[in-house]
Amino acid sequence: APSCRKESAEYKGRANLHVFEDWCGSSTADLRKNLHYPLYPHSRMTVQKLAISPQRTSYGLRIFGYLHPYTDGEFEFALSSDDNSELWLSTDDTTLNLQLLAWVGKTGSEWTAPGEFEKYASQTSKPVRLSAQKKYFFEVIHKQNDKGTDHVEVAWQLLDQGFGFKVIESSHISLYVDESALLVSDVAQIPQTAASPQHTATKQQIGSADMLREDLRDTLYRVPLVHSTFLHDVLPDCSYKPSYTIKNVPLYRYQGVQFVHMSFIYPNDYTRLTHIETENSCFYPKRLQLRFARYMKLDLPDMQDIGEQLNKQYHMQMTPKRNHTQIQRLKDSELQPLERDSALPEKPKEIGMKMPLPVVEKSTHRSGTDTNWSQTFQINHLNLQAHRSDQIDLGCNISGNLLLHSSEALPVVKAFMKQLKKKQFTLVRVVNVVKHVDAAKGSRYLLELELKDVNGQLLRLSHYVYAPILQRQHSLSFKQPEPHLKLCNPMGFQWNPNANVHFIVPVKNQARWVQQLIADLEQLFIETGDLNFNLIITDYSSTDMDVKKALQKSSLHRYQYVKLSGNFERAAGLQAGVDLINDDNSIVFLCDLHINFPPFIIDTIRKHCVKGYMAFAPIVLRLDCGVTRLEARGFWEVNGFGLLGIYKSDLDSVGGMNTKEFRDRWGGEDWELLDRILMGGLEVERFYLRNFVHHFHSKRGMWRQSSPGYR
Ligand SMILES: *[C@@H]1O[C@H](CO)[C@@H](O)[C@H](O)[C@H]1NC(C)=O
Ligand SMILES: *[C@@H]1O[C@H](CO)[C@@H](O)[C@H](O)[C@H]1NC(C)=O
Ligand SMILES: *[C@@H]1O[C@H](CO)[C@@H](O)[C@H](O)[C@H]1NC(C)=O
Repeated sequence: APSCRKESAEYKGRANLHVFEDWCGSSTADLRKNLHYPLYPHSRMTVQKLAISPQRTSYGLRIFGYLHPYTDGEFEFALSSDDNSELWLSTDDTTLNLQLLAWVGKTGSEWTAPGEFEKYASQTSKPVRLSAQKKYFFEVIHKQNDKGTDHVEVAWQLLDQGFGFKVIESSHISLYVDESALLVSDVAQIPQTAASPQHTATKQQIGSADMLREDLRDTLYRVPLVHSTFLHDVLPDCSYKPSYTIKNVPLYRYQGVQFVHMSFIYPNDYTRLTHIETENSCFYPKRLQLRFARYMKLDLPDMQDIGEQLNKQYHMQMTPKRNHTQIQRLKDSELQPLERDSALPEKPKEIGMKMPLPVVEKSTHRSGTDTNWSQTFQINHLNLQAHRSDQIDLGCNISGNLLLHSSEALPVVKAFMKQLKKKQFTLVRVVNVVKHVDAAKGSRYLLELELKDVNGQLLRLSHYVYAPILQRQHSLSFKQPEPHLKLCNPMGFQWNPNANVHFIVPVKNQARWVQQLIADLEQLFIETGDLNFNLIITDYSSTDMDVKKALQKSSLHRYQYVKLSGNFERAAGLQAGVDLINDDNSIVFLCDLHINFPPFIIDTIRKHCVKGYMAFAPIVLRLDCGVTRLEARGFWEVNGFGLLGIYKSDLDSVGGMNTKEFRDRWGGEDWELLDRILMGGLEVERFYLRNFVHHFHSKRGMWRQSSPGYR
């Protein structure tokens, strides 16, 4: 058996590559349908690293060999490709114990940009413990259809090191078998594995939304909080005065939305709706869309000797045949994504700012004859997130949260834990980090961690820290942020885990939805046991149900009912609810019908409302017609600020709802309130909230005809 063979030098640095040409389709299942798969590929060759781009259409690849870990430890693997692909790894050096670790797929419509490792949850593996003393059989299957920039690459990283994914290079692979002297009819050496048969099934539901996966964030609220007395002297105090608040700056009406900045999230919460994303989604910068070839630096035979003859004016093109000048040009082309080693921490300043991307030109696929099937390329982890702006883009409604890179999130956690360890807490898991960028003064982080105390009890920490920009932190320091990372405790900027949260919902003649709301909040109470939330329904004398009676009959722990008369007015209805609240230290959540609340909503509202400082406007996912929450098809309501949490005292101090101007008109009252909140000197936290959905609902007969549309 090949695995008993002595490893010889020629085996090192390469893997076996089998090519199946001229076969349509974009899924790995399409490749397996090929009659000649897996024993009779068109070509059998080798490849020098696990990043391949033959620049051809309608083909499939099977790459296999051994992986040689460079150290003992827990590795995470990541796979990126256009179109679908699968990564399998054995638990040993045999072909028998293969497991599917990661995939881009399965429907055929999935694809990623080169080096884009975080588009789909399935692209990254669970941690795998490997030993440097051993070698492991692996197999990669790739299918390319007739369009797009073909590529497949496999990367790895040591768990929790924060260095990012690196492509697996030749020094860590070896051949499974040397086929150079064999005939096409010799097939005994070709491994047939669990990955080979047509019927290979996977557990993933086809086309299901990544956002629906379990996430530690969903249940964190159930873990008891670390008592605040442990936290008050962990970090030195500092004053918190962000540069972006605009107290007393007069705004034009509805201008406020321009002064709201999105927060960044770590780790990936999969609020990007990749399962319904179209190819020209706003996620990929326009110029980059579908033509990624330009920043894939091909590994070419060494041409240093002709380097001197270069004509620098030359125009690079990906033409079928390249002469030496062109090849050198390829090597020299402005390939910013490669020069910037994205494994390095980003300069904090740059997060949230738009950076120039390389111009991408149309690439013509090579003609059949001169395809270099083992054409490898250089690619770093492509952090498209770093190119996103924290401005609200109203045309961008499925791309989900801005993601914070681990190389930035983890050093902050580490710096904080270093101080907290003095109190004998140990880190169990990083559940959530929310960053709010202030390029002038320094960023604020909400750290959400699972910890163990000295007795081994599991506790959670949800704590704001501040990382002021220090004088000496100039651009040269971005490679090593840790020594400059001086966290402090933003004085006054802490949330209250016991604050009362009042959901206020104005209604009129919406019986079905009112029943649904009450049932949902009964369920919320059962799941959370939270005694500090209250439902306030303000009712414009509904005639289709007795709202008050329904509340009385419900199992809600707390509710209040206000009867109003006349036509429905959202602003006045909300204000009537606000007026019932006596306690200034409680939070108002301005709300609507048709919303589905995830169980963590109350905790989340509390965490992101800070009295005197911050209101919270989470973004809700509006479902399409005929779609359930479990399909998650629709769009994020990036322009709605109607769902808003704010301390009662803060709402009062900005004047409450504008009940004079926003009466029978529907819409606009949320943006107008936002203007006043910002002019009042508060900031507004905003991000997409997992599993927070707005049900599709009929607008028929709901409002008077004059209403400009119900949301
Ligand atoms: C290389 O190709 C370019 C563009 O096709 C052409 O202008 C140039 O003359 C070629 N150089 C050589 C040495 O063939
Ligand atoms: C094909 O590509 C590989 C890797 O980039 C390179 O080493 C090899 O020389 C190329 N083969 C040909 C025939 O150009
Ligand atoms: C969502 O975004 C798409 C693409 O920008 C746009 O065409 C569509 O109108 C948006 N939908 C809404 C309701 O804003």
